[in-house]
Amino acid sequence: MEVQQVLHMNGGNGETSYACNSKLQKLVITKAKPVVIGSISDLYTINLPRCLRVADLGCSSGPNTLEVIIEIIDAIDETCHQLKLTTPEFQVFLNDLPSNDFNNIFKTLPAFYEQLKKEKGDIVFRLREAMGVQQIFHMNWGNGETSYACNSILQKLVITKTKPVVIGSILDFYTKNLPPCLRVADLGCSSGPNTLLVTTEIIEAIDETCHQLNRNTPEFQVFLNDLPSNDLNAIFKTLPDFCEQLKKEKGEKFGPCSITGLPGSFYGRLFPSNSIDFFHSSNSVHWLSQVPSMVGNRIENNKGNIYLARTSPPSVVKAYLEQFQKDFSLFLSLRAKEITPGGRMVLTLVRRRSEDPFGKESFLWELLSDSLNDLVSKGLIEEDKVDSFNLPYYIPSRKELEDIICAEGSFYLDQFEILDVSWDASDDDNDNKECMFHRFITAQKVAKCIKSCDRVVAHLSLWGCCNGCSIQ
Ligand SMILES: C[S@@+](CC[C@H](N)C(=O)[O-])C[C@H]1O[C@@H](n2cnc3c(N)ncnc32)[C@H](O)[C@@H]1O
Repeated sequence: MEVQQVLHMNGGNGETSYACNSKLQKLVITKAKPVVIGSISDLYTINLPRCLRVADLGCSSGPNTLEVIIEIIDAIDETCHQLKLTTPEFQVFLNDLPSNDFNNIFKTLPAFYEQLKKEKGDIVFRLREAMGVQQIFHMNWGNGETSYACNSILQKLVITKTKPVVIGSILDFYTKNLPPCLRVADLGCSSGPNTLLVTTEIIEAIDETCHQLNRNTPEFQVFLNDLPSNDLNAIFKTLPDFCEQLKKEKGEKFGPCSITGLPGSFYGRLFPSNSIDFFHSSNSVHWLSQVPSMVGNRIENNKGNIYLARTSPPSVVKAYLEQFQKDFSLFLSLRAKEITPGGRMVLTLVRRRSEDPFGKESFLWELLSDSLNDLVSKGLIEEDKVDSFNLPYYIPSRKELEDIICAEGSFYLDQFEILDVSWDASDDDNDNKECMFHRFITAQKVAKCIKSCDRVVAHLSLWGCCNGCSIQ
């Protein structure tokens, strides 16, 4: 175990980095290519799997990391062309010690997919879609005062409040299907104290149920997904302790449990077909794939606002709603392909109480717009910068959500719950009232959680279905 803490290649792209000093290893990879390709082509042509799962162990972080993967994809693609077969789906696992610089690898992935898409067309495009927002959006890294790790108590409360639904849903799936391996994905996991919260809750609940049923626990395969710009390095570093703790608490019979980081937008394909039993996402799906576009690439006439406000013209309201409809439909259709028959999905997101597009729930963004406009009036920032900035974020109403789920048609809406969550993340009503009316404390808290303003939270539990028929 100790080697995990101490051994790693030098990260980054500096003079002493592994990235800049791995030519010898590259030569070895090139020389070994005929053996690697011979072996995998043999395996592929004998078995013709629909999904080819490949793991590169000790992948490091540098120009060699994706070298073998590219060779394999090229070779299989060529073989498929020759045999007039459809290229299989690929699921590639890059493994290294938790101290490896994975962030560096993940940042290169959008360009890598783009290149594959260009060269191979639709076949590989299905793997994942690059989205503009990937480049710009992420929660604040680290443990500093403004980090997401230190300002996500509100989201933690949301996760705690939705626990009964999450656990109810996964236990129902587990006890009906008893899979030998339970595959779970948390979409928009971020990097902080909440990241492994749902995973822990799920493992605890399944373990307890298995004890009651006198069964061995299943194997667990957990995928933690977020945008490539998320600090996955920080998550990976916590995994050895997390796994050690699990082993201590649950005993040697528990597991195995593998936890994999999966960088990529959930508005693109993330997983092979029929491969995930349970999808979870909290506080994330209200983030859009891009800022709604109207004229060219930019919303016009939302002057002085950064989100929908009373002064936003109807065309802006329409653009936001249409972007959400497009994104959420896409999200559902992608997950429908990836979920196993009978699989479940629980989503928690902010929702509007009323059909009025300018619901109270967006007041946080209005406060932020007001502050930015103050800075404009003091000449500290340019007016055009505020006018041209719009958030890739949408707070839907219950009806809007239900309409999209119904129109998209891949999932049945099993449960829809509304939770009220207070701004100061307090669960105690009296406590909360005091805080709500203490202007200074409230202002501080609002400012701190400005990146995650989930006041009224809608919560959906969805059932996967195949080709529109229920598999309940
Ligand atoms: C407010 S955080 C929620 C984190 C965690 N689930 C929680 O409840 O504390 C929202 C997360 O969604 C991620 N996110 C936003 N858009 C995404 C996308 N298109 N694909 C994957 N993750 C996304 C962000 O990077 C961020 O980490």
